[in-house]
Amino acid sequence: MKILITGGAGFIGSHVVRLFVNKYPNYTIHNLDKLTYAGNLANLSDIEKKPNYAFVKGDIVDAGFINELLNREKYNAVIHLAAESHVDRSITNPLEFVMTNVIGTVNLLNAAKTLYKAANSSFTKFYHVSTDEVYGALGDEGMFTESTSYDPHSPYSASKASSDHFVRAYHDTYGLPVVISNCSNNYGPNHFPEKLIPLCINNIKHNRPLPIYGKGENVRDWLFVEDHATAIDKIFHKAKLGSTYNIGGHNEWTNIDVIRLLCDMMDSKLGRPAGTNQKLITFVKDRAGHDLRYAIDATKLKNDLGWVPSVTFEQGLERTVDWYLNNEEWLNNVTSGNYSNYYNEQYVKR
Ligand code: NAD
Ligand code: TYD
Repeated sequence: MKILITGGAGFIGSHVVRLFVNKYPNYTIHNLDKLTYAGNLANLSDIEKKPNYAFVKGDIVDAGFINELLNREKYNAVIHLAAESHVDRSITNPLEFVMTNVIGTVNLLNAAKTLYKAANSSFTKFYHVSTDEVYGALGDEGMFTESTSYDPHSPYSASKASSDHFVRAYHDTYGLPVVISNCSNNYGPNHFPEKLIPLCINNIKHNRPLPIYGKGENVRDWLFVEDHATAIDKIFHKAKLGSTYNIGGHNEWTNIDVIRLLCDMMDSKLGRPAGTNQKLITFVKDRAGHDLRYAIDATKLKNDLGWVPSVTFEQGLERTVDWYLNNEEWLNNVTSGNYSNYYNEQYVKR
């Protein structure tokens, strides 16, 4: 099996690449990534010399390059994670999200379709990794299931919803063998520190304000990134072609409660008196179109494929904090240069 994984030097993709390279030594894994601000080869330094792994630098928006690569390498499957992924950036620059998330996905679908339709084709699967944000926002009750209607609100979720529709359209129109999964918010090592949890870990470390949008009442359903990777492994190998799976940890938290837990955990890890870090919490102007609540019903995944998360939120968060505290160089590298978080760029203190 020769698999192309896109977006493998980013947060989730790097965990998926590592899992596949280590668990399946007989597979050949190619990791295609443009290395935008969010891509970082240091995420995969532990496996870069493995004989069944290769990195390919390239842009999924470049149709000529994608067609040539798939035609030359004759992959048996694609696992597609490359995307622009930050909601705040999508509010500032929606077109970039259309280009990468929609056009880039359609470019890959076209190249995969050509491979699949070729004589003696051995192309078996196009696995599209997506988000629960395509379903829109929930009120206080209910959960997203696989049959929830799409209702995206941000340019990011609209671009991911569009890409999901194209993947299904290529299945229904051209018979392309596809699988889609929609996962809730991930957290863990290698998460770029513009997203809530790693941003706050980094800010606590440096005694900087922790920007909480609105009143901090928005709810997210957090999943440890390695659990997402094991779910992708199961779905990739076992899901029926044409099917969709929701992935989530039944782990809903308001943003303010997540940050309070993080503050308390880091007080003790940094040897600060209890309550010190919570003083850094700063309520700031809300995000435009901010979805109130996400919650995933992952019953189908549990019943069909036997997947459940392996760690509690407290365990996963502790591993995450420890990783950031032990990987100062990684954090310094990605926060140097032109980096500045979106709170600083876009938001003013209320
Ligand atoms: P990320 O931003 O950390 O990584 C994205 C990767 O894609 C980066 O390595 C980047 O260099 C690469 N990339 C971007 N544009 C590219 C292009 N034009 N060509 C090639 N490579 C390009 O994102 P992530 O959080 O790891 O998310 C990965 C996937 O999972 C995305 O499709 C996202 O929608 C989905 N997802 C993310 C979450 C989450 O909580 N982060 C949850 C559910 C689903
Ligand atoms: P984020 O990590 O950007 O993920 P998403 O928007 O995809 O859910 O944000 C998680 C939640 O935290 C979301 O409700 C927005 C909020 N948030 C803040 O309150 N402050 C911040 O600085 C950031 C980046 C996010």
